[in-house]
Amino acid sequence: MKPTIVSGLKPSGKLHIGNYLGMTKQSIALQSSEEFNCYYFIADYHALTQKYKPSEKSAEIFDMAVDALALGIDPKKSVFFMQSDILEHANLAWLFDCITPTGKLQGMIEFREKIEEGQPANAGLLNYPVLMAADILMYKASFVPVGEDQRQHLELTRDIARTFNKKFGKIFPEPKGIFVEGLRVKSLDNPKKKMSKSLPKGCLYLTDSPEAIKKKVRSAVTDSGNEIIFDPDKKPALANLLLIYSEMSDTPIKEIIENHKGKGYKEFKDNLAEAVSSALASFREKRKEIASDSKKVRKTLLEGAEKARVTASKTLQEVKKKMGLI
Ligand code: TYM
Repeated sequence: MKPTIVSGLKPSGKLHIGNYLGMTKQSIALQSSEEFNCYYFIADYHALTQKYKPSEKSAEIFDMAVDALALGIDPKKSVFFMQSDILEHANLAWLFDCITPTGKLQGMIEFREKIEEGQPANAGLLNYPVLMAADILMYKASFVPVGEDQRQHLELTRDIARTFNKKFGKIFPEPKGIFVEGLRVKSLDNPKKKMSKSLPKGCLYLTDSPEAIKKKVRSAVTDSGNEIIFDPDKKPALANLLLIYSEMSDTPIKEIIENHKGKGYKEFKDNLAEAVSSALASFREKRKEIASDSKKVRKTLLEGAEKARVTASKTLQEVKKKMGLI
């Protein structure tokens, strides 16, 4: 049997290039290798753990599904679905809640960050990583392509798998993360913070027009001096821009620096904006086409859910049996 890969996108805003470079780009490459069974989903239940407007949520979910499809998540190669269409996810999360110490959840970095940002400390936010473990272990994933910020959540998933296997009998693998080493895209207006949907001012969205990209990149913070060098300690803002440039244009950082010898920040930023815009040109076109047929998008998600449900219901039965419910 082929190893399984699982990953999700949370519809709590629009996709930005951090999401693209940290997760989606890898996920698309992995689905094309045909060595894996891939499950990709829209984590709509996770999106409810933070403040939101009910009148806007379904449009946000739809937009994220369109973004994922336009980037290249291919329903013929991967099982692509919406989390809330599979009732087993929340069900399995409850069963995992019963073997997860609350102390571990209270110490999670993302839980603390979200509260600092002003999100309400509801039980959903606290239990967010347990639902994530359920998403992953439901399909007995071996690998999870995610950004570095999800490392701790993945470690908890492995802990839950280990605890479950020890207590009730082995059924889960301990999934490994697929990370792009050092790839944590920072906010354009603050290189100390990660680019995040909850800090929209510092985001480059995939749907931004070339004009908007140019404007945002031009006003991105830079460090003192005018020389283009890669030094994440002394020049973290510039290092972030170089990383974005390199990843979006598939050009080594060294080569970009070489090409900008003797040139200043302004020229560098304009070239960066151009590189980002042209990398996203075909995405923009595809996105328009996919978004014009909303029924087809919904149908695609429902067909994906039908496939995912077969495995999900089997796993849930197996877990209930092991835990003594059946
Ligand atoms: P989300 O939608 O917030 O993020 C989606 C992916 O983007 C990565 N990411 C980044 N990577 C690099 N630099 C950044 N600035 C940056 N910001 C975000 C995230 O690491 C993530 O991989 N909790 C998940 C959603 C989820 C999930 C799952 C993922 C729910 N269940 C099960 C994997 C498996 C999240 O943060 O989504």
